[in-house]
Amino acid sequence: MKRVLVTGGLGFIGSHTAVELQVRGYQCVIADNLTNTQREVQDGIAAITGTRPEWTNVDLADPAACRAFLQSQPKFDGIIHFAAFKAVGESVQKPLDYYRNNLGSLLNLLDYVRANVDCAFIFSSSCTVYGQADELPIREHAAIKPAESPYGNTKQIGEEILRDGASAHGFRAIALRYFNPIGAHPSAKIGELPIGVPQNLVPFLTQSACGMRGTLKVFGNDYKTRDGTCIRDYIHVVDLSQAHIAAMERLMQNKAKEAVEVFNLGTGTGSSVLEVIAAFERASGKRIAFEFAPRRAGDVVAAYADTTKATEVLGWRASRSLDQCMADAWRWQLTLKSN
Ligand code: WQD
Repeated sequence: MKRVLVTGGLGFIGSHTAVELQVRGYQCVIADNLTNTQREVQDGIAAITGTRPEWTNVDLADPAACRAFLQSQPKFDGIIHFAAFKAVGESVQKPLDYYRNNLGSLLNLLDYVRANVDCAFIFSSSCTVYGQADELPIREHAAIKPAESPYGNTKQIGEEILRDGASAHGFRAIALRYFNPIGAHPSAKIGELPIGVPQNLVPFLTQSACGMRGTLKVFGNDYKTRDGTCIRDYIHVVDLSQAHIAAMERLMQNKAKEAVEVFNLGTGTGSSVLEVIAAFERASGKRIAFEFAPRRAGDVVAAYADTTKATEVLGWRASRSLDQCMADAWRWQLTLKSN
């Protein structure tokens, strides 16, 4: 049985990827220090798959702790690296924490990979590296724009570290640039667990719909888009997780054509904020109260993926609709409310 380390595996995308690994017969080992999640997520994974994944609470940004953890483990055939701080706004307030944590953990893990070059390494990157792309849909060779936040910069620098490390040390890696991950596992046993007031649209929307938050503010309705609100590519977290398996297996089967390959992971379809609200209302049967508010600093007008490369090379495409994303997100929110 191949062993795969999932760092940040109790987090939103990490936990859904842990499920996809287990149902495909991989031995999933999680490293997560709970900075942005709860230990009960391990129960949720076990409830879905029937197998409780091994989990170690370890700070991967601590070189000694990371090394000790990896040395205590049997060899890994793959590492899927999610563990990172990911709040754009917070990264502006605490840039040093973001650089130390996001880049330190990556460097510590790559020390292991360069000593085990047949270990397939998957890096969690983001469409934020494109900023406001010059043309839409966005393709992988689109220009990388100066980062608009320290968070985005850690993703850009992370990809550069991968490229330089792979060419110097002979390992291979794949960077996956996520668009907007949303939704939850259809079982409603795992999903998004935002801590504090959600900064992202969909968790705020579901919390507002169940009375946990006040009126949803739509940040800007005067953009040059079909309805004046920003457009994003919202992708179901299960679709996104399945792409990680496809990318990892590409490396395990030595099919990669470059030392570091990059893939955009989206649906290829852009949806406006108002269209997301309408999809939620259709899926939940609930009306959403919202009001227009000033634009949010740092928002790009529109971003959605050209998915050709992921489909042609990984043999993967997103299959879940925006309405299904909303139905799954709402079902998950209702379980949280009842806890
Ligand atoms: C989407 C749209 C907001 C909240 C961020 C990160 C990105 C990735 C996904 C990690 C925008 C609008 C939002 C609200 C609103 N994270 N909005 N009212 O900013 O596209 O992407 O999360 O990789 O890196 O940048 O996602 O959900 O915050 O915003 O109107 O209460 O919803 O203005 O147009 P974003 P988001």
